[in-house]
Amino acid sequence: MTSPISTSAPSATTSSTGKAVTAQWWRDAVVYQVYPRSFADADGDGMGDLPGVTAHLPYLRDLGVDAIWLSPFYTSPQHDGGYDVADYTDVDPRFGSLADADEMMARAHELGLKVIVDIVPNHSSSEHVLFQEALAAAPGSPERDLYMFAEGRGVSGELPPNNWTSIFHGPAWTRITEADGTPGQWYLHIFDTSQPDWNWKNPRVHELMQDVLRFWLDRGADGFRVDVAHGMVKPEGLPDATVNAEGLIDIPEGEVPVYFDNDGVLDIYREWRPILDSYEGDRMMVLEAWIPEHRLPLYIGDEKAHQSFNFGFLQARWGVETMRAAIEKPLALADAVGSPTTWVLSNHDVIRHASRYGFAPDHRFGEGLARDEVPDAELGLRRARAATLLMLSLPGSAYLYQGEELGLPEVSDIPDELREDPAHLRAGVPGRDGCRVPLPWVQDAPAYGFSSTGESWLPQPAEFGPLAVDQQLGVDGSVLEMYRSALHLRRKLQLGVQSEAAGVVFAQTAPDGVLVLDRGDLRVVVNTTSAPVPLAEVTDDQGYEVLLRSVPTGPDGAEQVAADSALWMRLTR
Ligand code: NOJ
Repeated sequence: MTSPISTSAPSATTSSTGKAVTAQWWRDAVVYQVYPRSFADADGDGMGDLPGVTAHLPYLRDLGVDAIWLSPFYTSPQHDGGYDVADYTDVDPRFGSLADADEMMARAHELGLKVIVDIVPNHSSSEHVLFQEALAAAPGSPERDLYMFAEGRGVSGELPPNNWTSIFHGPAWTRITEADGTPGQWYLHIFDTSQPDWNWKNPRVHELMQDVLRFWLDRGADGFRVDVAHGMVKPEGLPDATVNAEGLIDIPEGEVPVYFDNDGVLDIYREWRPILDSYEGDRMMVLEAWIPEHRLPLYIGDEKAHQSFNFGFLQARWGVETMRAAIEKPLALADAVGSPTTWVLSNHDVIRHASRYGFAPDHRFGEGLARDEVPDAELGLRRARAATLLMLSLPGSAYLYQGEELGLPEVSDIPDELREDPAHLRAGVPGRDGCRVPLPWVQDAPAYGFSSTGESWLPQPAEFGPLAVDQQLGVDGSVLEMYRSALHLRRKLQLGVQSEAAGVVFAQTAPDGVLVLDRGDLRVVVNTTSAPVPLAEVTDDQGYEVLLRSVPTGPDGAEQVAADSALWMRLTR
């Protein structure tokens, strides 16, 4: 029933340079994303912090992940949850101190966990001292040249330098008032007005960011997640973008706006790679690069970045064809670039997958979940569990987002006045706060154990109570125990490792609506239909042993793959 229509990357033990790759931990790692504001609050101010992370590191070790990635915890006015950095080499007091960062890193290493920190090189905060100095300096000064300042168009510069719009809606340019009180130059901010873009044509910016890398490498960081990794260098002459009939920037399918993915960006990774390589251990970078597929080989490779997020699962709807395509394409690309792919089902920017899967496959998502957009929570979680088992069976590295191991849903009823996402503030869309609600640790504790005082920067909904860690830990069939078992087995069976012997092989024939794939003698079955499927229909008359199911099943279901569920089985051929 199966044939090797899609198999594996080259060898599991050597890279294209012949360097042994078994030591390159990131190639098959499971990385857990910590969104520090919402993970655990040790000082009781309602916002998570680094001591809160440190305190819960044993939980993450026991969960079975290999590494953590922390979203920014640097000094920041928090206009974009810390992705507006005012000082790249210090910790925001809300999150603790540098000493707390050192302690967190040391403890993680003691527990065998790697630590990836976030670097935000496309823009800083408008409160960064260098931006403040640029504002105070004259047009054409070296201070201004660190950022993207330009003269406006029109008779007296009253129009922005070009028609670019911000990812967070509205214009991408803001006009400043010069020191003498007159309306002056404009500065570029691809994101919020509080996030001015650096000018990467200026060598000082290169030096400055290299110093930031060294600062965190010296403190023990094992890697960097690079924010807007395709954004830094803007096209020569800042040309207008093409706009459609509604005046919106026209981005044909598979392309990116004119201000992204310019070739100059590639030089940055060629500069950074030797810096990372000059440190002991395998220091790595993973790019948040939204680029057309054919451009990936330009970013990833031995002298470039190590890996890039593959966001295919964020867009793939529930169904055999969509999910299979979301697996085959990145595997083929991984072969082409010689670096295993990554897998992502959720992160701090998207609607949690337990909610995404609760909508019909043709549902059109906006930015965040609107209050009246109500998913089928039970179905969504059921499918999310299955999708997770599918993802964790695949070779490459998997990135988990805090709370998905508890099956947390997206929260849609946050009062507008409490929302902080700049996209919400600029355009009124629901935005991303719904996936950033603080974690529930203990059902019967203030703020569900998130903070000792009961404070929480976003309100936690009542549904979070029964999903708290203490309600799931050690409970057979809970989402948390499913994650723990899957991560344990993934490690034991080395499912993350690409190898000839355990390539991904899809079944050519399978019952309708059922996805079947093999990794050596492990068979993964995802039943996307709403009816159970007899195991006999997916075992090719071979002996088998079920290793793990995404949902518990009673004696009646023992010989079936339940509706909207997945399982891992060992075939005894
Ligand atoms: C991508 C980050 O993931 C997102 O949270 C942030 O708003 C933008 N980059 C801008 O830094």
